[in-house]
Amino acid sequence: MTGSYPATRLRRTRASVWSRALHRETMLTPADLIWPLFVTEGAGVEEPIGSLPGVSRWSVDLIAHRAKEAVALGIPCLALFPNTPGELRSADGREALNPDNLMCRAIRAIKDACGEQIGVLTDVALDPYTSHGQDGLVDAAGYVLNDETVEVLVGQSLNQAAAGADVIAPSDMMDGRIGAIREALEGAGHVNVQIMSYAAKYASAFYGPFRDAVGSRGLLKGDKKTYQMDPANSDEALREVELDLLEGADSVMVKPGLPYLDIILKVKETFGVPVFAYQVSGEYAMIEAAVAAGAGERDALVLETLTAFKRAGCSGVLTYHAAHAARLLNG
Ligand code: PBG
Repeated sequence: MTGSYPATRLRRTRASVWSRALHRETMLTPADLIWPLFVTEGAGVEEPIGSLPGVSRWSVDLIAHRAKEAVALGIPCLALFPNTPGELRSADGREALNPDNLMCRAIRAIKDACGEQIGVLTDVALDPYTSHGQDGLVDAAGYVLNDETVEVLVGQSLNQAAAGADVIAPSDMMDGRIGAIREALEGAGHVNVQIMSYAAKYASAFYGPFRDAVGSRGLLKGDKKTYQMDPANSDEALREVELDLLEGADSVMVKPGLPYLDIILKVKETFGVPVFAYQVSGEYAMIEAAVAAGAGERDALVLETLTAFKRAGCSGVLTYHAAHAARLLNG
């Protein structure tokens, strides 16, 4: 206290519940959450995912129930990922272009059930459809071809938009795909279909359980380092974001989430655009493992991590804990 009068005591405003509520700088609400859901074939099917305890794949009919649950919880948007049956996976991922593929059927089921009450965000990348598990077309040496892949991603985006997707979310990290997809959407009259670009997506070790969920882990040969970003880089993330914005992205994503809060903050401060974080499967699994080990308390871990994303500048967060968090926030 030396030399300061009146005494500055930062603990004063923390001393009571009402005062902490009054001084809280960051608010987390269910409206900040995007709930990723995995879709699988069949009817009445729920398949738990071993490496993602508490998360399941749902058949299309049950996906519609999840959508209604999300609406009731105040969650504004769902993110869909298909577990394509093995026999429909091919080197060129052509099932991504099938207007009756799992993804398109799930989009239609949600829109039939909930209409404008919920947004549907769809992943654009070929990994759930390829027999090699890469996000694009590969040459003889296994290199993921950029421009050839972008052509397929454009077709995949148009296919999803025609089925009723509200937000196209390219997660493939090919160069130039945002511009190509935007132009094609405009040309097809989908002027109000948004693009949320996975702009700064890192070649991360945190995606393992997701690859189990979409059935690509066992198929994947090698890694994704020739297209996803080096975790050591941040200037490059800003260039990725800048290009995607110039090409027409409405919002951008940083992925994974918690290990990349510095990137989120930089993107927000540099561009002042809507930024989203993906708290990915490995992050979810880490929290669940901590809970199972008695090392932490789920509700507190979930709310603290999600609040951190908002504090760093996020408009919202994709999280597998979305429904649980919304329940907690709704009291
Ligand atoms: C693939 C894709 C991945 C995730 C979302 N889209 C995995 C990958 O790039 O291998 C990861 C999400 C998660 O781990 O929760 N295009």
